Amino acid sequence: MNTSSTEHKRGIFSSNWGFLLAAIGSAIGLGNIWRFSYMAYDNGGGAFLIPYFVALFSAGIPLLMLEYGLGHREKASAPLAFAKLSRRMEWLGWWMPIFVMFGIMFYYQVVIGWCANFTIFSFNLAWGSDTQDFFLNQFLGITKGPGELGGLQGIIATATALMWFVTWFITYQEVHRGIERACKIFMPVLLVTTIILVVWGLTLPGAAKGIEYYLKPNWGKLLDFKVWMAAYGQIFFTLSISFGIMIAYASYLPKKTDLVQNAWIVALTNCLYSFVAGFAVFSILGYLSYSKGLPIDQVIKSGPTLAFVVFPEAISKLPFLREVFGVLFFSALTVAGLSSGVSIVEALTSAIMDKFKLARKWIVTALCMIGLFGSLIFTTGGGLFWLDIVDHFLNQYGLVLAGLLECLVVGYVLKTKVLRNHINATARVKLTWVWDFMIKYLTPAILLVMLVRSLYTELSKGYGGYSVSALLGIGVTWLIATLVTGIMLSVYPWETSRLKTDHVPESDELFK
Ligand code: PHE
Repeated sequence: MNTSSTEHKRGIFSSNWGFLLAAIGSAIGLGNIWRFSYMAYDNGGGAFLIPYFVALFSAGIPLLMLEYGLGHREKASAPLAFAKLSRRMEWLGWWMPIFVMFGIMFYYQVVIGWCANFTIFSFNLAWGSDTQDFFLNQFLGITKGPGELGGLQGIIATATALMWFVTWFITYQEVHRGIERACKIFMPVLLVTTIILVVWGLTLPGAAKGIEYYLKPNWGKLLDFKVWMAAYGQIFFTLSISFGIMIAYASYLPKKTDLVQNAWIVALTNCLYSFVAGFAVFSILGYLSYSKGLPIDQVIKSGPTLAFVVFPEAISKLPFLREVFGVLFFSALTVAGLSSGVSIVEALTSAIMDKFKLARKWIVTALCMIGLFGSLIFTTGGGLFWLDIVDHFLNQYGLVLAGLLECLVVGYVLKTKVLRNHINATARVKLTWVWDFMIKYLTPAILLVMLVRSLYTELSKGYGGYSVSALLGIGVTWLIATLVTGIMLSVYPWETSRLKTDHVPESDELFK
């Protein structure tokens, strides 16, 4: 057994590069290709991009800085960091990683499993000529709705189990090794294959129409709150904000770290990558619309299947090395997904270790086993509907609400100025009052309006044609269950020494 002093010793990233790789590894994942593309598609292409970038600057980047600052200042994972600010807000620090781990991760690992399956399908381009039919009917064995599960799909369940095993294996080791190594190899592969697909996509007939759909702003749609809500949800998801991950990762950073610069690098690299990948997606969509004689917005039957319809289609059309290319692309996507998945298991593990005297390996093992169990429902024939509903709720309500609360806690309990001074102590380009203004007023105000408006639409019109009872039954129950767990964990008392703030006063107090 460890003594309590070594038990709480926090690892440190070997360099700022190590941190950046891990932070980018968490941010860049299926959200950039799989989720970004169907969010853009479902919300009218060009109509989505403006809200997306507005969300990036009005919430994404300020909140990323907040999370880095908080984790770095308190040297703690989310629950302890919030508990140090106010014991009464600790539940928020639990709620974030819990609803991600026991919600988003359940289906996220399944989608990584799809990627792993498609890596294997690439060996003989098994998806054939109708990639949509292949995906929906042969691969997913899709049923008529969320009420009809239709049994587990063997290969999907097997791949998902394998993904949980790999996640377990990587997280079982120390913080930096597994994550850094995998990211260093596969991130460049993903980037290169994506760029090749972008260039190739643009040469396909009909591509221009697809790109026009992607880039041409649709001003009328800017009045549609649904699009804005989707954009904010996507920004939270893609930057792993409100996951508790960034707080935990920043706690592993050495004292002298430029947090502002790191936040800019991570956020811009991540969103630029999505934006570029979008060119591949929409040029291929343009091609599909041309070859099928359908309008672009009718080409894909269900948003979450989009990436798995368009990329195989493009790979099959490549002039040479199709199989090799397919294997490279889907395996890189699998690793990008895994590195994101690892980051949430890591975040929740470090949160539990901060509070409860449990050994890392047992926590990781338990989390991954529960995770696998929870994933199973998404591997059934009705899994796609469940995925759609759970994803919608957890992202648009869970992540956004947690982000709003984070702003309020830092704005009014800790005070933005204190955190800003801490961040500025090591930043080359300093944050100004603008950041305070955003965290205290602007960002929470926008998020609040968003939440209220979309809740109203949801309750009056429902979402995506699902019955309101299915939505309330699945989505809301999930949110409440995770919230209750978070509150329960926060009630358990801390070892008092853990709550002491061990940050050095010079960074904040001196500047007051
Ligand atoms: N940011 C990740 C992505 O875009 C989302 C994610 C992170 C999901 C961690 C699960 C766990 O894919």
